[in-house]
Amino acid sequence: MSGHGTPIPMTSHRAAPLSGVAEVPGDKSISHRSLILGAMAIGETKISGLLEGDDVLDTAKAMQAFGAEVVNHGGGNWSVFGVGVGGFAEPDQVIDCGNSGTGVRLIMGCMATSPITVTFTGDSSLNGRPMARVTDPLALFGAKTVGRKGGRLPMTIVGAAEPTPVRYVVPVPSAQVKSAVLLAGLNAPGQTVVIEKEATRDHSERMLAGFGAEITVADTEEGREITLTGQPELKPQVIAVPRDPSSAAFPVCAALITPGSDVLVPGIGLNPTRAGLFYTLQDMGADLTFENMREEGGEPVADLRAKYSSAMKGIAVPPDRAASMIDEYPVLSVVASFATGKTMMAGVKELRVKESDRIDAMARGLRANGVTVEEGEDWWSVEGLGPDGVPGGGTCESFLDHRIAMSFMVMGMGAQNPVTVDDGSPITTSFPIFEPLMTGLGAKLSQD
Ligand code: S3P
Repeated sequence: MSGHGTPIPMTSHRAAPLSGVAEVPGDKSISHRSLILGAMAIGETKISGLLEGDDVLDTAKAMQAFGAEVVNHGGGNWSVFGVGVGGFAEPDQVIDCGNSGTGVRLIMGCMATSPITVTFTGDSSLNGRPMARVTDPLALFGAKTVGRKGGRLPMTIVGAAEPTPVRYVVPVPSAQVKSAVLLAGLNAPGQTVVIEKEATRDHSERMLAGFGAEITVADTEEGREITLTGQPELKPQVIAVPRDPSSAAFPVCAALITPGSDVLVPGIGLNPTRAGLFYTLQDMGADLTFENMREEGGEPVADLRAKYSSAMKGIAVPPDRAASMIDEYPVLSVVASFATGKTMMAGVKELRVKESDRIDAMARGLRANGVTVEEGEDWWSVEGLGPDGVPGGGTCESFLDHRIAMSFMVMGMGAQNPVTVDDGSPITTSFPIFEPLMTGLGAKLSQD
């Protein structure tokens, strides 16, 4: 199955000890937001460390289609010359967001309160994902949407010419939905209020404040209430994108399950809304330490050191941690296979509507490699086989999902037999240097 051209099967063979320094790319969430907010500011936003994965490059193209000038200076350094809040031009082509749910949902938000009409599409994974969770609140601003059955892409949004601000309680724990509403609120007069019952990643709030928007956050009985004053003049920024904790998860977890490993992953953001995996691994008994704790750009940052951990135990992951590690459950389930005892992951219904149904995709692949998995609608559990007990030898479908593909490549590093994915091509959406980076640490990956 592929939406990116020819599938590229990949196999991961049992690795020698992994060692060295893993410099993972820039944060995907912050990279999308840097381009979008840069396009909505007036003047030049300078970005260093931008993730140059397909998802983010599609957002860069979209911002150009809306009239912003986006310049790639090389080496992760980019400039965006923004058109200001309310300054978007109507694109004359369909906006193709590829594989990116974050890209399409944030861009829908930022155009929904401008008097322009935009048609969105994506690959077969993205075109199967639910969009009503975003278009429902955008309709409250006055935007109109025509899409396929079930609120799927391709979809056309007619932005509101005279938007009204909204007060919206987000019904699912989703930073994308929250952010889409906030971005729409930028071009609505008055105050837009978003309430989330569970805190999700807060990059939009932090970055909107950084760009000069008036935004406040309060804990109320209903939840975390964010109030944004519309129609600000956003000021261009200089942004150093931190390295992505969700990408750091792969070399960290690979080191934990590969005998003899010792890997340093420097400069990883430990924003509490993103760092849940690392605390969960520590709770399992992983030899994972935070070195050189510091603050960069207002965010806690550390160098992560991960060493082979033969004594990890299965645990019940606290459900209230789910939002802070939602993208990391696939690779956690791989680590759980190498622990002793059962790992229970509950409160994770959102995993079913990611780039793939991640519970289903991982369950199938883990079983193909000899691991016992149980699942329900919003939970799943993995029966650990101990540090050297995972047979491997299976072929897994990646379902156009980068994190599924990378998780099974990690599994192959510690399993008794090689692990294959039918298509590793989606990896470039978020981690274009995955293969050279992991090979540089000692992994044995082959494209068959
Ligand atoms: C993201 C939010 C999360 C996450 C995605 C990035 C973001 O999605 O899974 O990879 O940058 O806002 P949801 O909002 O659907 O939880």
